Amino acid sequence: MTAAYDQLLEVLLRHLSPTNAEGTLMRSIREAGLRADGLTLTDIQQLLPSLERRIRLYVDPVRHARLTQELAEIGGGRPSRRSRTLAIKNEADISEVRRVAKTICEGAGARTFITHKIVTIVSELARNIVHYTPGGTIEVGVIRDKPPRCSILAMDGGPGILNLEEIMSGRYKSKTGMGRGLMGVKRLAERFKINPGPPGTRIEVEVDL
Ligand SMILES: Nc1ncnc2c1ncn2[C@@H]1O[C@H](COP(=O)(O)OP(=O)(O)O)[C@@H](O)[C@H]1O
Ligand SMILES: [Mg+2]
Repeated sequence: MTAAYDQLLEVLLRHLSPTNAEGTLMRSIREAGLRADGLTLTDIQQLLPSLERRIRLYVDPVRHARLTQELAEIGGGRPSRRSRTLAIKNEADISEVRRVAKTICEGAGARTFITHKIVTIVSELARNIVHYTPGGTIEVGVIRDKPPRCSILAMDGGPGILNLEEIMSGRYKSKTGMGRGLMGVKRLAERFKINPGPPGTRIEVEVDL
């Protein structure tokens, strides 16, 4: 076998039994249409999504995050922060950012209720951008650190939030919704930072995976 194959196997063996490690690697190589005896370092990028999906069967989310990071580093160091930024302007963008957040969480091996939390947070932030501003962006990413976590950054070009204190205290009565969206986001998140502007609102949230 090649050096690339050996390096992949070596990382997998740190976390999986020999049978599972070899089986997982061979199935991923076959699925990618590659050959184990011709595997190069550049092929590794192609194998990662399938490997990440398969190893989730054998390891818990924390170990999964560590293992995927170790695998990524063999391929020449994909950055340990993976993220996507989406423009948010209309209802369709809300669905899209929900879908992207779900995919990112699942890719990171998050448990179902954590994924659900993150999708809820992203929905509330996107909904606010659509309802109260001309548009903005939401960035969803995974930080492979200790602890591994999902980061969400919402920014918009709206008027800012002038009565933030009232809103976060629960005294605020909204004309448009329940008036509890931001409080809910804060409650669901491990870390919550808001810069209400003006101009524009910037909200940074982290949820541990
Ligand atoms: N990104 C934003 N830009 C400007 N105003 C906002 C933004 N997000 C929220 N707000 C204001 O804060 C209020 C409370 O928001 P939220 O807690 O999500 O409850 P709701 O959306 O149900 O009213 C909104 O009614 C709106 O006036
Ligand atoms: Mg809201």
